Amino acid sequence: MTPDVAEFTSLDDFERHALEVLPQMPRDYFRSGAWAESTLRENRAAWERLRIWYRVMRDVSGRSTRAEVLGRSAAMPVCVAPTALHRMAHPDGEVATARAAAAAGVPMILSSLSTTAVEEVRAAARSVDPAARTWMQMYIGRDRGAVRELAQRAAAAGCDALVLTVDTPVWGIRERDIRNHFRVPDGMRIVHLERPGGPTGHAGRGIHEALAWTIDASLTWRDFEWLRDSTPLPVLLKGICRAEDAAQGVQLGAQGILVSNHGGRQLDGAPATVEALPHCVDAVAGRVPVLVDGGVRRGTDVLRALALGAQAVCVGRPVLWGLASGGEQGVARVLEILRHELDVTLALAVRAGVADATADLLRP
Ligand code: FNR
Ligand code: LAC
Repeated sequence: MTPDVAEFTSLDDFERHALEVLPQMPRDYFRSGAWAESTLRENRAAWERLRIWYRVMRDVSGRSTRAEVLGRSAAMPVCVAPTALHRMAHPDGEVATARAAAAAGVPMILSSLSTTAVEEVRAAARSVDPAARTWMQMYIGRDRGAVRELAQRAAAAGCDALVLTVDTPVWGIRERDIRNHFRVPDGMRIVHLERPGGPTGHAGRGIHEALAWTIDASLTWRDFEWLRDSTPLPVLLKGICRAEDAAQGVQLGAQGILVSNHGGRQLDGAPATVEALPHCVDAVAGRVPVLVDGGVRRGTDVLRALALGAQAVCVGRPVLWGLASGGEQGVARVLEILRHELDVTLALAVRAGVADATADLLRP
């Protein structure tokens, strides 16, 4: 039975519901972190530890959550993080997510491992809002021709950026997936990358076997330069942890840095992204926008990220929980809750808008 998602009041409500209704294999795939899941837990806990030093008695009746995100205005400084295989959460898959993100006025980053083609996703987004923004996430796999082709398709379909994920030389080990013999379910395809007679995601135990062919352990900065030179689109780097890598990426032409540990799914033991963020913000020194994802579940977390110098955050799993709970309506409600929470957080912290979310909120 489809629940009335309008009754859900927090992103945690969506998580609880989705964990109840999803079959074991997708549920474990979506929720899992790597190994002991310490980074997964820490991503969330570390946001909560930051206390917000609010002001009082300054008129915030005219406040707004609107924000500039990568040079254009968005309804709030939040993007949909790229997550694979949306049709495992709901039959409408990435089309539902794209429609909800477009209606909410936020950019969606489409996973290259999606179950819907970028052209169809763009058409869905544009049917809701002709100005809707989609960024294409990329992995550089061994088949460089396929990577170049996808970059071209993304540009032709009207995506406005590429997001190269750089924290996956190999796949992290998610133990539940191994026990479940996780693979791409029959009837779904990694539509952008599967070729007749080529590898598919249908065999193996865990994505480190099923999807090993989609990545390449030999990647270096040269491959980033190659991608940068083979596309007219700006390229962001996703999965940055340290200042040196943020600085090198910007020096080589990255148009944005997304501080991320892949939602705790790659190197367990990596720092929470909130801990890594200030180092990267310092290293980038305002040259390009810095975004962050991992464990963002509340409007208060969005404010914390902005106070640490991020231009915007991305949310991964909450979107999947929304999809699983109610398709397009579920994702729309997740984004609505987050926007409402950010609005109330701004009011209570006594800030007129996101540009006002300055560092003194965390260190008065
Ligand atoms: C991801 N993530 C991810 N990242 C990426 O660059 N390409 C991808 O295809 C995927 N796929 C994917 C699937 C699932 C099920 C999850 C949970 C995550 C990582 C994602 O973009 C993001 O970094 C994290 O999900 C952010 O953490 P939260 O918001 O899930 O805590
Ligand atoms: C994952 C990949 C697909 O984290 O990014 O499962």
